[in-house]
Amino acid sequence: MERIFSGVQPTGNLHLGNYLGAIRNWVRLQEDYECLFCVVDLHAVTVWQDPVELKASTRHVCAAMLAAGIDAKRNIIFNQSQVSGHAELAWIFNCVARLGWLNRMTQFKEKAGKNKENASVGLYAYPNLMAADILLYKGTHVPVGEDQKQHLELARDIAIKFNNDFGVDFFPVVEPLIFGAATRVMSLRDGTAKMSKSDPSELSRIAMTDDADAIAKKIRKAKTDPDALPGSEKEFAGRPEAANLMGIYAALADIEVAEVLTRFGGKQFSDFKQELADLAVEKLAPMQGEMRRLMDDTAHVDAVLADGVARARAIAGPILAEVHDIVGFLRS
Ligand code: TRP
Repeated sequence: MERIFSGVQPTGNLHLGNYLGAIRNWVRLQEDYECLFCVVDLHAVTVWQDPVELKASTRHVCAAMLAAGIDAKRNIIFNQSQVSGHAELAWIFNCVARLGWLNRMTQFKEKAGKNKENASVGLYAYPNLMAADILLYKGTHVPVGEDQKQHLELARDIAIKFNNDFGVDFFPVVEPLIFGAATRVMSLRDGTAKMSKSDPSELSRIAMTDDADAIAKKIRKAKTDPDALPGSEKEFAGRPEAANLMGIYAALADIEVAEVLTRFGGKQFSDFKQELADLAVEKLAPMQGEMRRLMDDTAHVDAVLADGVARARAIAGPILAEVHDIVGFLRS
C-alpha cells in the first residue's frame, strides 16, 4: 500500500512559500494516497522555542492545512509529540544511523553555523527523527522540497541498514515526490533569498493570514528592476525578482512559466503586478479568510488534532511493537 507522510514545523506563521511549496501539493495528494500530515513539534524544539508560541504555532499550522483544503476526515492531521512512537523509533534509529552519515548533512552545518559546539544534540540527530516519522507508519512516499532531499536519502539508508542488520524485509524504501514549478518562492524584497518567516521585513512575504489589502499592497511594493519583463527563461539571468514574480504567477494560475513569459514578456512590471495582485487575491483571500476564522476556533482545531493523534497511534502501535520484537526488546 502507498502511504504518504509529510511534516511541517510549527515555527512562526506560514507564508506563500509554505503554501505553494508544500501545503498546496498535499491537497492534491489526498486524492490518490492515504496521507498523514504531521505538525512536527519535536523537530521544532531542536532550536529554542517559546512554549506559549509553540502551542499557538501548532494550532496555526493545523488551521492552515484545513484552510488550504486538506480533509481531516480522509487524512490524518496530528502533532508529532503526542504519538510517543516518533521519539522511541528515533532512539532506535540513533543506534542504526552512523556518525559519518550525519556529519554529511548540509542542513545541520547551515543551521549550526560557526558555533557547532553549541548546537543541540537534537539538531544533529534531527534527520534520524525525520526518518522515524516516516517509517513509524511505513510511509512509502514523501513530498519534499529540494532542501529536504538529503534527509530523505538518509531515511532510505536507515531503512536499508535496519533491514540488513536484522535480516528482515520490514521497512519500505521511501520514495521522494518532488513537485514542479514554483516550489521555491523567493522573498518579495530580494529575489535571491528564500521567502522566510525569519525575514525581519513583513513586506518580504505574504502571510497565510494576510487579507486582500495586505496581499495587494505587498505585491505592489515587491522589488523589481527597471527593464520590461523578460520573454524567455534565458532572460531571467541576473533578474531574480522577475523570475520570482513570474514563477509565483505561474504557480497561482496553475500554468507553465513559459506561458507567463509569452503572456507578459515585453510588458511593464507595473501592469504585470496589477494582474498578479488580482490573481493572488482571487486565489488566496478565501483561504486566508478561512484561516483567520479557524484561528479563532481553537476548540475545533484541537479536536482535529486529537482525532488525528488517536488515528496515528492506531497505525503506529502495531508497527512499533514489531520493531521491538525485531530488535529484541523483551515484552514485560
Ligand atoms: N524536516 C522537514 C522540514 O523542515 C519537516 C519534516 C519532519 C518532515 N519530518 C518529516 C518532512 C517527515 C517530510 C517527512 O521541512
